[in-house]
Amino acid sequence: MDDVTIKFICGDSKEREAILERANREWAEIIHSSSGASYAWDAIADANEDLLVLEAPDGKLLGALSFCTRYGDEKNIYVSRIGVIRERCGYGQRLMREVAKIAADKGQGVVALPTAEGQRLFCRIGMRFRQRAGSHEPEYAFTPNEARRFAEGRQMSRALSSQG
Ligand SMILES: CC(C)(COP(=O)(O)OP(=O)(O)OC[C@H]1O[C@@H](n2cnc3c(N)ncnc32)[C@H](O)[C@@H]1OP(=O)(O)O)[C@@H](O)C(=O)NCCC(=O)NCCS
Repeated sequence: MDDVTIKFICGDSKEREAILERANREWAEIIHSSSGASYAWDAIADANEDLLVLEAPDGKLLGALSFCTRYGDEKNIYVSRIGVIRERCGYGQRLMREVAKIAADKGQGVVALPTAEGQRLFCRIGMRFRQRAGSHEPEYAFTPNEARRFAEGRQMSRALSSQG
């Protein structure tokens, strides 16, 4: 786990195209059966968003997270998609720590719109549950200070039972 690396790719680039080709090749057999691979593939393919790619020591792709800043809310980074091909190894948390670092460096918070599995992860790392403004949809958030604490490994993770 300590040997995994994360690449940051900003917007559209040749490097992103190359990673998409690798994802097509490496995940060909699991893309329809693994929701993690499918979310990660969508993250890589959306060139309108910035991207974090998680790689194993042998260079194999393990997962990805896409994020953006929304017009009118420059105070937050929005996590659009996160997926890993091998679950419960700490990879999801690793990707979230990296995006929190990026947010903390700019004095921003982090907002994530979850699936059920995402909800579990976001809750456990200490993000706060809230109702999205003008909607019944849930979202999870770190304030800028919380994002910094989590990025530095100082944020207390929260028990699932305290969610809500
Ligand atoms: C959501 C998702 C990205 C989480 O990633 P993950 O890598 O499994 O997350 P983590 O490993 O960091 O944490 C998951 C669990 O593994 C546990 N874990 C972490 N490291 C572990 C280890 N070395 N050994 C055993 N368990 C471990 C964590 O405690 C956590 O437990 P919990 O679910 O009981 O709270 C992943 O489940 C996924 O890709 N899901 C499908 C796509 C999806 O729904 N994406 C969310 C969109 S919002």
